[in-house]
Formats: sequence, structure tokens, C-alpha cells
Amino acid sequence: MSASVIPHTVTFVRSIFEGAEGGHDWFHTERVWKMARYIRDQEGKGDRLTIELAALLHDISDPKFNGGDEEAGSRMATDFLAGEGLDADRLDHLGRIIRHISFKGGNTPHSETSIEFQIVQDADRLDALGAIGIARAFNYGGFKNLPIYDPAIPVTAYADASSYYASRAPTINHFHEKLLKLKDLMNTATGKALAEERHRFMLLFLEQFRREARPEEL
Ligand code: ADP
Ligand code: NI
Repeated sequence: MSASVIPHTVTFVRSIFEGAEGGHDWFHTERVWKMARYIRDQEGKGDRLTIELAALLHDISDPKFNGGDEEAGSRMATDFLAGEGLDADRLDHLGRIIRHISFKGGNTPHSETSIEFQIVQDADRLDALGAIGIARAFNYGGFKNLPIYDPAIPVTAYADASSYYASRAPTINHFHEKLLKLKDLMNTATGKALAEERHRFMLLFLEQFRREARPEEL
């Protein structure tokens, strides 16, 4: 295996994210990479190389933007890493982590429960919370030209991944449909503690938003 597999992977991933939507760009990946390293060190377990590579490669092909192909990201990642000479066991494991990491409208049942998976999933989820999570949500909503807020459209529970992806619901609804649920889905103690702080900040934001949205109640 190449000794510079991490820097090679950084270059590969950065080239893929040229011109990407702002909430889902290289800087999201970089934060997830650093956060995954931090959680790994706090928890004191998990294979470092697997965690770093999974974090770096977790979003290189998003089914929301690639026509719904759930396998494309893991395929591209394992093709790239095979070229770097990564061993077959790690390749296999990384493919599974990347395939299962995203939320897809619910907590899709699957058998990937490794600590490496849990750490990278926590790092990814943390980036959807707090101040950054709020910024990313409205950026995504703007990119998709979704309304910010529309009191006539109720919060929805999506039956499957495709109805979740197809939703045109206002961005404020996304907090109730996904973001406020994440703190109870965290895998590690480190992730949970960080998620709770970010959760409280989002509640504060939503409360302030609600008051500003109803001047008639002042
Ligand atoms: P990731 O792939 O990083 O796990 P997602 O692809 O689900 O997360 O979402 C990327 C970012 O876009 C997140 O911050 C998420 O909250 C936001 N986002 C996804 N779907 C919506 C939506 N329907 N409305 C507003 N924001 C959304
Ligand atoms: Ni992500």
C-alpha cells in the first residue's frame, strides 16, 4: 500500500468536489475527517486508517445528486483505493461503511456495526447539527429553491428514501423531519455529548424563528 494514501485521497476527493453545492463540499468532508479523528482519540478505539479514509470518501457520490445510485460512492471509493494498493479486508470494510453511512429518511436497518462505521457516522451527523447544520440546511434549501418556511405544509414522515429525496418541503420542516432526531441516534458517548450541545442551539434558533415568523403574536 502507498505510504501517502491519505494525501492521495485528499487530492482525489478535493478534485471531485470542485464546484459542488456549498453545504456538501470539500469543507464538509474536511470537518467530518477532523471530527472523526477527534472522536477516535476520545473513544480510544477503532482502526485509524479505515476511519480517516471512510470520512474522506463518505460523500464523493451522493444519491441525492447522482440520480439515486446508492452504490456509486462506495464503488468509486474502492476503485480508487484498490489503485492505492489497500488490502482486501479494508477495501471490503470501507465499501460497506460508505454504502451505509447516509440517513436516507430513516435509520435503514443493516448489519454494519463496526466502531469505525459508528465513529464516521457520528462525525457526519454532527456536521448536520448546530450552527453549521443550520447553515447547511438553508444552503441546501436555497440550492433546491425550497421555501424557507410555509405554515401550510405540515411536517411529514417519509415512507422510503425516494420520497425523502423528492420532498419539496420547507427547510424549517427538515429540522423536525431529520435534524432534531439525530441526537438520539448517536453511536458514541463523545458524539452524543457534542450532539446535545448542538441540539440545544438548534432549539434556541427554532424558538427565535417561530417568534419572528408571527409578528401578529407580538
Ligand atoms: P450527509 O450526506 O452529509 O450525511 P445529507 O446528504 O442528508 O447529509 O444532507 C446534507 C446537508 O443538507 C445536511 O446538512 C442536511 O441537513 C441538508 N439537507 C438534506 N436534505 C435537506 C432538505 N430536504 N432540506 C434542507 N436541508 C437538507
Ligand atoms: Ni456527509
